[in-house]
Amino acid sequence: MQLRITNTKHLRIMKDFNYYAPTEVVFGKESEEQVAHLIKKYDGHRVLVHYGGQSAKRSGLLDKICRLLDEGGVFHTELGGVVPNPRLSLVHKGIQLCKEQQIDFILAVGGGSVIDSAKAIAYGVCYEGDVWDFYMRKAEAKACLPVASVLTIPAAGSEMSEASVITNEDGDIKLGYSNNISRPKFAIMNPERTYTLPPYQTAAGVTDMMMHTMERYFTHDGDMDLTTAIAEAVLRTMKDNIFYVLRNPEDYRFRAQIMWGGSVAHNGLTGCGIHDDWATHQLEHELSGMFDVTHGAGLAAIWPSWARYVYKEDVSRFVRFAVNVMDVPNDFADPEGTALRGIEAMERFYHAIGMPINIHELIGREITDDEIKEMVRKCSRNYSSTCGCFKVLQAEDMEKIYQMAK
Ligand code: NZQ
Ligand code: ZN
Repeated sequence: MQLRITNTKHLRIMKDFNYYAPTEVVFGKESEEQVAHLIKKYDGHRVLVHYGGQSAKRSGLLDKICRLLDEGGVFHTELGGVVPNPRLSLVHKGIQLCKEQQIDFILAVGGGSVIDSAKAIAYGVCYEGDVWDFYMRKAEAKACLPVASVLTIPAAGSEMSEASVITNEDGDIKLGYSNNISRPKFAIMNPERTYTLPPYQTAAGVTDMMMHTMERYFTHDGDMDLTTAIAEAVLRTMKDNIFYVLRNPEDYRFRAQIMWGGSVAHNGLTGCGIHDDWATHQLEHELSGMFDVTHGAGLAAIWPSWARYVYKEDVSRFVRFAVNVMDVPNDFADPEGTALRGIEAMERFYHAIGMPINIHELIGREITDDEIKEMVRKCSRNYSSTCGCFKVLQAEDMEKIYQMAK
């Protein structure tokens, strides 16, 4: 067995940080039984129950939540129909409904898309203008209705995060907005509720949570001993457990590891003391905005090309990833070779769990140069901004990465 790489002797100075994770996590079998009590605890009286397409209805979860709210004497009204890559038009509908019904609390029953839509509605109810202003950076939200979730898919980490990502159908523009005031009051997580997830969504979810960790892991700030070790533990745990989950979708033990991993990966813990990157996410948001693909799968299609484009910025970081996360033998005479073998190992992992490793595999056809140019234009905000931190990407870098990922 090879030794893991540690760099304790060469620790860098930890960047100052605020760690703010106010969400109460209620984890376990039957955890949804507490829903009415939790809403009252956080001062909710009139609740919008927000949900997606079919899954929460089909599983009986939605009926159960509504029954529990009735039994707890909590007024509620429902709004379903959130789709993956949630749309602004439904957000507008939700805002109107909340105003008409004097809603004071939003409960999302679903995954990242439902929670993000709930956060957007929550901002919009407390704002005179169009909620899209926040996503366009034209305004900063000062208030927001309280939001909470009953999580059904571990992936986006929105159940503890400050982010919300919404797609405006007018132009297929997918934009995120982050503000601590929208961090959910509580998250109910029952791993049994994830048994019905199809393998593709399970794998895309794990890809997303691993990427939330990797966006923070690939930093120029060097090793932060504890932060780096937590990130590597999250990555290894997800990488190992996914195979058990895919073989045994109804085994609580493995589903529970993955479910908690999704939250830990995106509640800020794996980013304490470092600068984070997020280039792969920004490049991906253009893909899911344009082609309406599953976010996690889009990340898998971009990351290998991003990694090959940037690894020379800090080969040692990629070596550490290869050895400590991907179990690649460390060839001390050839650090670049070790780094590249780590990227290849990640590609093999993506394929093994049914994820694509390029855009062709993702959308099922060759992407055109014009489509790439359009994504670059949007990603660079009309050529006015960069993305990433590990390597700061200009518009021409974005184009090269999309071309490599073709
Ligand atoms: O609509 P239903 O029928 O419920 O089906 C959903 C949906 O089709 C299904 N599903 C959910 N729970 C299920 C289930 N199917 C069977 N059994 C269950 N228990 O899964 C599909 C995907 O759901 P979705 O909510 O879209 O998945 P996810 O949690 O991956 O969310 C993706 C969205 O989150 C954004 C992404 O960009 C994307 O729009 N993100 C949000 C972040 C945040 N707020 O912090 C960060 C992320 O990086 C990400 O960008
Ligand atoms: Zn993500």
